[in-house]
Amino acid sequence: MSKNSMTFRDNRTGKEVELPIIEGSTGPSVVDCTKFYRDFGLFMLDPGFKSTASCDSKITFIDGEKGILEHRGYPIEQLAEKSSYIETCYLLMYGELPTKDEFDWFNRLVVEHTMVHEQLLQFYKGFRRDAHPMAIMVGVVGALSAFYHDSLDIHDPRHREISAIRVLAKLPTIAAASYKYYTGQPFIYPNNNLSYAANFLNMMFSTPCEEYHISPIISDAMDKIFILHADHEQNASTATVRLAGSSQANPFACISAGISALWGPAHGGANEAVLKMLDEIGTPDRVSEYVEKARDPKDTFRLMGFGHRVYKNYDPRAKVLREAAKGVLEETGRADDPLFKIAMELERIALEDEYFIEKKLYPNVDFYSGIILRAIGFPPNMFTVIFALARSVGWISQWIEMIGDDHLSIGRPRQLYSGATKRDWVPIDERD
Ligand code: CMC
Repeated sequence: MSKNSMTFRDNRTGKEVELPIIEGSTGPSVVDCTKFYRDFGLFMLDPGFKSTASCDSKITFIDGEKGILEHRGYPIEQLAEKSSYIETCYLLMYGELPTKDEFDWFNRLVVEHTMVHEQLLQFYKGFRRDAHPMAIMVGVVGALSAFYHDSLDIHDPRHREISAIRVLAKLPTIAAASYKYYTGQPFIYPNNNLSYAANFLNMMFSTPCEEYHISPIISDAMDKIFILHADHEQNASTATVRLAGSSQANPFACISAGISALWGPAHGGANEAVLKMLDEIGTPDRVSEYVEKARDPKDTFRLMGFGHRVYKNYDPRAKVLREAAKGVLEETGRADDPLFKIAMELERIALEDEYFIEKKLYPNVDFYSGIILRAIGFPPNMFTVIFALARSVGWISQWIEMIGDDHLSIGRPRQLYSGATKRDWVPIDERD
């Protein structure tokens, strides 16, 4: 019997099967159960993937107990402080920090692809003016596959790279256009002399009649928000991208699937929900009332921006954003922002509350990002769009990793069937 294995015994039959244990470079090891069904005739049941590793990846590592997040080994705090979003994108996609030449090449490549096909902009007119920008994102990003099919051979590494660059470069343009469309303002074309973050801000907030002054503090904060959302291991949207990609669907279709999965309030939609909640609370003295509601087992209300499937400690991204929020509020003249005060009070009370301590519910990345984004001038319905834009590099890097794997096979979960067993069809007038 190998030391690196685990023996499973079916007590009904006495049959034993030895399963190999595979060590990662850090973090929990895994039991390789790919042959479990063949050997035992049983499936594993784990609906929320609470104990299931869905893939082998070299991109991002999380230790939820300790509140650690690393991309390719680099701690998120260092990347947020010292790196840029474009450099982080390179790191996620290629595995190493770029040299100066590599950075210049990559940056140029992204910049050269920021425009979208002019006809794609016509696509927006099919949406109602009051459409949620996430709905527009799902549609328009999926539609990229109708415009860029010259690079859709997913088995060609060069095609994969071109598609990845297109995703990275065009998402800010598409996201800003989704905002301009519902506000009724003309689309603003990308300005390739600006940094990634500054270009996005400019496409969002400038108009043909008025220049937008890009404050370096705001542009830095935007870049930080992008870095902090860039990747997060096998979360719901990334797992969706991988599952869609495992069928060999094209990358734009897969990213569109990821955007759909991100939209829900349990995932990326939480940043918009946090702002709604803070607005509803209204004043710091009503915070305890809401904490009480969140504790009440009969009430379905949850404190938005609190709790995480993996982090059982302070989300390291929230820590960085908490500090960044102060600088942005100062710069935008909102140092006395009542919502920030409510958020601080909520955090204080929740962190001292027995219920939250016992369940290890700490603020997550969405808790502070909305406050920063609102101070910059983004409406709440754009918050999740910004999350999607930033996460697109994580999705595409994970997709590239998966497609490049020699052992690529379609993701096809099984189930515990608990429905009716075989029965014969009955004519309608003979049914009870
Ligand atoms: N407020 C109050 N109670 C909570 C909260 C919360 N925010 N989150 C979890 N709980 C309770 C929950 O009621 C449950 O209690 P009990 O054991 O008595 O039934 C316990 O904590 C465990 O919750 P769970 O739903 O089983 O945990 P999960 O790992 O399935 O859910 C979560 C994780 C993020 C969906 C959840 O914490 C939540 O709904 N949080 C609010 C939404 C949110 O902020 N989402 C953003 C997540 S971070 C960014 C991202 O992933 O996009």
